[in-house]
Amino acid sequence: DDLKRFIQKMPKAELHLHIEGSLEPELMFALAKRNDIEIPFATVQEVRDAYSFSNLQDFLDIYYQGMSVLLKEQDFYDLTFAYLTKMQEQNVIHVEIFFDPQGHTDRGVPFATVIDGITRALDDGLAKFGITSKLILCFLRHLSEDAAFDTLAQALPFRDRITAVGLDSSEMGHPPSKFARVFEKAKAEGFLAVAHAGEEGPPEYVYEALDLLKVDRLDHGNRALEDTALVTRLADSQIALTVCPLSNYKLAGVTDMRAHPIKKMLDLGLKATVNSDDPSYFGGYVNENYDAIIESLSLTKAEILKLARNGFEASFCSEKEKQAMI
Ligand code: ADE
Ligand code: ZN
Repeated sequence: DDLKRFIQKMPKAELHLHIEGSLEPELMFALAKRNDIEIPFATVQEVRDAYSFSNLQDFLDIYYQGMSVLLKEQDFYDLTFAYLTKMQEQNVIHVEIFFDPQGHTDRGVPFATVIDGITRALDDGLAKFGITSKLILCFLRHLSEDAAFDTLAQALPFRDRITAVGLDSSEMGHPPSKFARVFEKAKAEGFLAVAHAGEEGPPEYVYEALDLLKVDRLDHGNRALEDTALVTRLADSQIALTVCPLSNYKLAGVTDMRAHPIKKMLDLGLKATVNSDDPSYFGGYVNENYDAIIESLSLTKAEILKLARNGFEASFCSEKEKQAMI
């Protein structure tokens, strides 16, 4: 209908996207064949049927297994270019994407192979589609502080291609405080910082992301709404939240899309943005995430525009670059 066409046509940014989470089953099969890797599925339908999760860990187990088909530079290129092709179809003109180097280096894939493939595709995405991009290196929080320090050291030779560091994977039991020293070093090296916080974890983890990791943006942040002092702080500082509606629904953080908190976030003056997280696993890219919330929350055109504008304003682009996009 009218609003859906409006969303499709509207220029958008995506700020919360795990590139490994954009691996569609068709490409997973093609890469498994190309690299002679066994996967425990016989058909694309079997893969899709396996994508039924009751929490974050449920999903992560299958997500790490899925990325095992990525071995060569060309694999990372194909993965990233497929995502950018989709973004061009959806009128997404700027992307800030996460990658999980430890998901690959721990399987023996060199850091350089991963980042070379991803950034070659990002360069082609700019040349062919005019899509601008930033790259964010995420540390896997279920692994040790030492492993994160090691990953940061491996990233330094490629620092000109990496804008920020982030923190993802299993949130419960792995609070931001575990990585305070790693983030301190990353910030000293000139990286910006983000962290997943308040996806499943309590408001305390959001405080830690702000106070100990000194994040420039919060990924998810849903559970911040449980703490009124925290809401006031987030509203006053206008720290952006990269909200992922379909992800919240598929991981059962939100059991009914009509109860999704994104409208409430806007009403509270929080700088919320709309993102897909892991589109292949959660059933939708950016436009489908907008469609899901307008249907269930009866958002107005003004609210949709606000969310899209927030995406550009919360990006890590320069003020001048932002002006050109808004
Ligand atoms: N890695 C990929 N997607 C994630 C998510 N939604 N939360 C934490 N880690 C992730
Ligand atoms: Zn995420």
